[in-house]
Amino acid sequence: MEEKKYKVGYTTGVFDLFHVGHLNLLEKCKAQCEKLIVAVCTDEYSHESGKQPIISYKDRARIVGALKCVDEVVPMKYTDKLEQWKEHKFDVLFSGDDWKGSERYKRTEEDFKKIGVDIVYFPYTKSISTTMIKENLKEN
Ligand code: CTP
Repeated sequence: MEEKKYKVGYTTGVFDLFHVGHLNLLEKCKAQCEKLIVAVCTDEYSHESGKQPIISYKDRARIVGALKCVDEVVPMKYTDKLEQWKEHKFDVLFSGDDWKGSERYKRTEEDFKKIGVDIVYFPYTKSISTTMIKENLKEN
């Protein structure tokens, strides 16, 4: 089997109303690491950050965990990525490039440089998002 660039990869998200943009991201993550850990935002965390998921944490976590490209699902409880790293000790953090340049990720890039953890951004799938699905449902 071809060797992957990273041993343990990590990515996060709400993954509400699971769609192909989520799948594209997770497949690209798994193509670069042997073990992919996905931290799914809990309902409490989502509410605190201003999002109201339609699907419960329990079901979102089950759906993400059932995918061939995902090895482990954990609950995401902290905003601080360094705190998350302390718990899961991943070699790389993956994210959609909608986060690139944000204050949160600029800080994370500085923190991770010090501990030698890479951050890899993948192109956001522009044709779909959870917000778009919700807007569509409102209109139809
Ligand atoms: N993502 C992506 N392409 C999309 C939607 C999401 O690459 N079309 C990526 C995000 O960049 C993030 C992960 O999938 O790394 C989880 O995103 P999440 O916020 O759960 O999904 P969105 O559909 O972007 O949700 P919302 O519209 O509520 O922001």
